[in-house]
Amino acid sequence: MIPDFIYGTAWKEDATERLTRLAIETGLRGIDTANQRRHYFEAAAGAAIASAIASGVIRRDELFIQTKFTYQSSQDHRLPYDPRADPPAQVQQSFDSSLEHLRTNLIDSYLLHGLSTYHGLASVDKEVWRAMEELHASGKALALGISNVSLDQIEELWTFARVKPSFVQNRCFARTRWDSDVRTFCRRQGIAYQGFSLLTANVKELQAARFRQIVTRVGKTPAQVVFGFALQAGMLPLTGTTNMNHMREDLESRHFTLSAGDLQVIENIAA
Ligand SMILES: NC(=O)c1ccc[n+]([C@@H]2O[C@H](COP(=O)([O-])OP(=O)(O)OC[C@H]3O[C@@H](n4cnc5c(N)ncnc54)[C@H](OP(=O)(O)O)[C@@H]3O)[C@@H](O)[C@H]2O)c1
Repeated sequence: MIPDFIYGTAWKEDATERLTRLAIETGLRGIDTANQRRHYFEAAAGAAIASAIASGVIRRDELFIQTKFTYQSSQDHRLPYDPRADPPAQVQQSFDSSLEHLRTNLIDSYLLHGLSTYHGLASVDKEVWRAMEELHASGKALALGISNVSLDQIEELWTFARVKPSFVQNRCFARTRWDSDVRTFCRRQGIAYQGFSLLTANVKELQAARFRQIVTRVGKTPAQVVFGFALQAGMLPLTGTTNMNHMREDLESRHFTLSAGDLQVIENIAA
């Protein structure tokens, strides 16, 4: 089950459980978290999922649960693994802890939360990917993916991987034509591209007169136009809103169509 929208649970701390439950009740079917306590409260997302399932709001097989393995350099002191263990053992420990937090025996999508280097793949990234492939082989991680990658990195990973990434999750800047190079590679290889910070990374561009004109003409909110654009461009967008009306609005962006001309204007809004 791949949803058409993903709810992002980062930075919600004590509100994580309430907001994740609200997102499920409002109709979001993808939940994104990470075993990185610094930015996410994975166990609280898991509590929300468990209570939604227990109260009959949703079945487990209707939900897409995604979490991540995060290197120590991006963690705080609350590590989900033994820092002295070797990287493959850390992957296994982090994954087991995610299963416990999320109260499930199956992760729909398991992401490497970012590589250890800015260019290419380091040997530790290769070791970690192989460990993730073992989780996939065990049947407990249905699909694998990677976040925060450049084109050269996803190309190299694609060549190296025996289990190919099914997902790329990247911050999506209008000034790179919405990550056009990576998206094009993903489209060619059949990787689903997940875009985040679609609103927050593009504040200036979304104030441009050409964008505002489209918003006025189609009679939608700026957020809906951005999410509508993302969906029509083939992305799987993330929303991390804390507001139920925004959750509804975001989901409604699946139900209107921007013209080819409007899509082109938005694609090039930073040009
Ligand atoms: N892989 C990574 O390294 C990485 C990094 C960052 C984020 N992520 C994932 O992406 C998710 C989303 O993060 P994000 O950076 O896109 O930002 P976000 O947390 O979704 O923030 C969106 C901001 O836009 C505002 N907003 C206003 N109208 C909105 C609307 N209609 N819909 C949605 N937001 C609206 C929200 O305010 P309101 O709350 O008032 O609506 C909020 O302040 C995270 O929770 C996380 O799961 C992944």
